[in-house]
Amino acid sequence: MTPRPTARIFRGTPRNLARLARVLREGGLVGVPTETVYGLAANALDPVACRQIFAAKGRPSHDPLIVHLASAADVDRVAFSNPAVEKLARRFWPGPLTLVLPKKPCVPDLVSAGLPSVAVRVPAHPLFRRLLRQTGLPLAAPSANPFGYISPTTAEHVRAHLGDRIGFILDGGPARIGIESTILDLRDPDRPRLLRPGAITAAEIARVLGRPVGGAPTRTRRGAQVSPGLLKKHYSPHTPVRLHERIDPHAPAQHPREAWVFLDRPPHPAPNVFSLGNRTDLPGIARRLFRRLRELDTRGFEAIHVELAPGTGLADAINDRLRRAAAPA
Ligand code: TXA
Ligand code: MG
Repeated sequence: MTPRPTARIFRGTPRNLARLARVLREGGLVGVPTETVYGLAANALDPVACRQIFAAKGRPSHDPLIVHLASAADVDRVAFSNPAVEKLARRFWPGPLTLVLPKKPCVPDLVSAGLPSVAVRVPAHPLFRRLLRQTGLPLAAPSANPFGYISPTTAEHVRAHLGDRIGFILDGGPARIGIESTILDLRDPDRPRLLRPGAITAAEIARVLGRPVGGAPTRTRRGAQVSPGLLKKHYSPHTPVRLHERIDPHAPAQHPREAWVFLDRPPHPAPNVFSLGNRTDLPGIARRLFRRLRELDTRGFEAIHVELAPGTGLADAINDRLRRAAAPA
């Protein structure tokens, strides 16, 4: 039997924000809205508080957390900055870009999973920003899902899976972007490397930095992970996911117990046929993707078929999440 959720969902009133800021200052956990996906936040400088994040998510301790800051000026509190950080911050913060930098000693080893680096970002969601300012703390927050499952894009998603393990969720409405931030390794400002594609593309970053952005293999030849936590199988529904360049319009009728998710308006409407909007609207597809996968995962279909997004940029980020969702366990 699944335990009953106990988490309360709070609207972002001044009184509620003050209360949730106090919870965080006292070492508690709060589910928070960001523009990408919902996070599970704790005081990033308090290893005891951060340990609870790993426990609530069932997250292995070799997977480091992202530290969220109220403003770019706060980078110095937790990391060693460089001129490339300033350029990117001016253009993209607050926003869905996470930078990996050399860490300062005040960041607990638990947060960085023992690495000498720390991932930082200044999020854009106005309620989360108010909460950050009110706590006066850097807040460590991974996506607020059980480890390996799809990231949450609403407060209800957070409650559905973590509601029996946390007490407080701040409701900021549906996430505007819907997939996790772009992660850029900027430890060496002369050799920026993309660790996770997101809504801010490698091409945009390269333009601002005036130099090319490298890609990162997620594993070295000997098998060690270069970017911890970027496990291949991740962001997965329980139902098997199958990917298609284009779904054959006749397939849904031939396989009625499987769900078929078209990017565009489907050719033949049916109870097992769904749409993510319109293939020319990639931001809309990104925004709806995780919500749709979650919903279909509860409906008892034998498989979920999804079309890959066309093109590059945001399409790379969408397809990265789809490939992880479809990867064998
Ligand atoms: O959009 C987002 O980034 C969301 C919201 C809540 O901000 N957060 C998020 O966190 O997606 P999470 O924990 O699900 O993914 C963070 C990933 C880790 O799995 C790891 O791959 C990478 O960030 N990461 C964190 N610290 C790192 C470090 N020091 N070096 C390399 N990669 C790091
Ligand atoms: Mg995650």
